[in-house]
Amino acid sequence: MEIIAVANQKGGVGKTTTTVNLAAALSLIAKKKVLLIDLDSQGNATTSLGLDKNALTHTMADVLLDGVPLADAIIKSEQGVDVIGANRDLAGIDVSLAGVSDAPFLLRQAIADAKAANRLDYDYIIMDCAPSLSMITVNALAATEGVIIPMQCEYYALEGVADLIATIDKLKNINPNLSIRGVVRTLFDYRNTLAQDVSAELVRHFGDLVYQTSIPRNVRLAEAPSFGQSIFGYEKSSKGAIAYHMLMNEVVAQSKARNLSA
Ligand SMILES: Nc1ncnc2c1ncn2[C@@H]1O[C@H](COP(=O)(O)OP(=O)(O)O)[C@@H](O)[C@H]1O
Ligand SMILES: [Mg+2]
Repeated sequence: MEIIAVANQKGGVGKTTTTVNLAAALSLIAKKKVLLIDLDSQGNATTSLGLDKNALTHTMADVLLDGVPLADAIIKSEQGVDVIGANRDLAGIDVSLAGVSDAPFLLRQAIADAKAANRLDYDYIIMDCAPSLSMITVNALAATEGVIIPMQCEYYALEGVADLIATIDKLKNINPNLSIRGVVRTLFDYRNTLAQDVSAELVRHFGDLVYQTSIPRNVRLAEAPSFGQSIFGYEKSSKGAIAYHMLMNEVVAQSKARNLSA
């Protein structure tokens, strides 16, 4: 089982779109068993998969704050991906966890407990993070091995991500396995020379960590969530679907390379 966090403290860079469609591609195309964990109180990933975020029996807030077993909060979505949803209940968590000594490890522990109870049978767990470096994001980074960073190729793209990288470096003390799995260029417009310049700068800065696939700006990707569908359910021949399919192939290739070297 591999655990991936999709993170960037900037909002609107395509974290949720990437989480949902990567998870859907892994499940529907690669036939992997996938659990998506929504760690954003906006619950966009939850609703993107057709779930009513305000009608959930359990959410991540119950898991992190009330000790509800993680496996009890899993819901089957109709998109083939299992989900642990989130909603506004997650918003106050930083305050609730102030002074709790093991606060950064709650998610990691919840996953470990579920594994120990044989209740977590997945190839991939993919977590959608909020646009902040809050305690919940720290929980995601403490629980994960690989971080995928979606980046929009615009001015300040790199500046925005410096804090995330500093946080990842700091967290290596408590989670030595933590690393950047890849940087994915999102909302990409080939005709825009600024986007090309920033893209080249990302490649200079991150080298091989930049996925070869970049995700184009594609209106179908923006429309799909309002139908509660991934891009593969909504319009599988769109440019957006093709791009996320290719990104998924790269992610699976990384997994194979890891297993070979392990
Ligand atoms: N490749 C894309 N093409 C067109 N619209 C996109 C694309 N990626 C994301 N969007 C839209 O941009 C907005 C922000 O994307 P989102 O994935 O929610 O970002 P984040 O989770 O980082 O805040 C959403 O309205 C989403 O539908
Ligand atoms: Mg989001």
